[in-house]
Amino acid sequence: MAQFKLDGVAIVVGATGGIGREVALTFAEAGVKGILLADLVTSAEVAEQTKFLASNPAFKCLSTRVDVTDVASVDDMVKLAVETFGRIDYCVNAFGVDVAEYVPFQQTSPEDYDRVLAINTKGPFLVTRAVGRAMLSQKPVQVDLGRLGHRDVGRGSIVNVSSAAALVAVPGKVPYVTSKHAVTGVTKAAAIDFKSACIRVNQVCPTWVRTPMFEEECRRVPQMPELLNKISPIKRPIEPDEVAAACLYLCSPSAVSVNGHTLTLDTGLLVGPTIG
Ligand SMILES: NC(=O)c1ccc[n+]([C@@H]2O[C@H](COP(=O)([O-])OP(=O)(O)OC[C@H]3O[C@@H](n4cnc5c(N)ncnc54)[C@H](O)[C@@H]3O)[C@@H](O)[C@H]2O)c1
Repeated sequence: MAQFKLDGVAIVVGATGGIGREVALTFAEAGVKGILLADLVTSAEVAEQTKFLASNPAFKCLSTRVDVTDVASVDDMVKLAVETFGRIDYCVNAFGVDVAEYVPFQQTSPEDYDRVLAINTKGPFLVTRAVGRAMLSQKPVQVDLGRLGHRDVGRGSIVNVSSAAALVAVPGKVPYVTSKHAVTGVTKAAAIDFKSACIRVNQVCPTWVRTPMFEEECRRVPQMPELLNKISPIKRPIEPDEVAAACLYLCSPSAVSVNGHTLTLDTGLLVGPTIG
């Protein structure tokens, strides 16, 4: 459900996943003229749905395989987007993995630590680096906002889908918690280095989202739905479209002043404990 209008070109990385799929569909509905759907495993279903929902008559969509841990693979993905569409206006990094097993700190496997950080932290670094380079070489854009007149929106917007685990620790997930805290560093470091070129980099930090990753968490921790029912005022996981809407806002002309920011989607969980 698109609440803001976009008319540029997007890359959605992790587009086959629960959140990435919804970001692609939402951006298509919002009017983008092109999307590159990138993932380790591509999905014909996501590409078809994205085309079906696109509101821009000139819409084009392309799928490509990318491994975000691999420099050449990431650079090739960005090259493909620029060759196909001429520029990149929005990039949403919606890929990621959880830990192999939930174990206390002292039992954490160094191999799993490296694996999770390679995808969840180095991945956003490599994609932001490559997309940032492409954005630096393109002209800034001005959009027509109707009654509000024309507005400069800069060279582009990058959104990292991080996690509430970037802000607080959760037990038994050292690699995941560390990887997501580090995404805050990637986001802020990119925002400060790119800001003079009018390229914005922000992150969204949701708690549990109803996706395959959450289903897997429920399988490992069967009391999860009951816990959510107790601690969350909405008594359910966040829906992927609610995360996609936050990404859409951060890429929209309405967010040109938002940079290096963390948009927390936590139903108030992290504000403080409920008493009584
Ligand atoms: N689902 C949740 O409860 C939740 C909560 C907070 C944050 N997040 C974060 O949201 C993001 C998306 O998660 P999701 O719930 O949609 O998960 P998901 O498992 O549905 O999708 C993740 C996607 O990432 C892709 N991916 C994994 N490794 C990759 C690689 N090396 N290169 C390219 N793509 C790769 C997978 O193929 C998959 O399509 C993740 O960063 C996750 O940490 C999820």
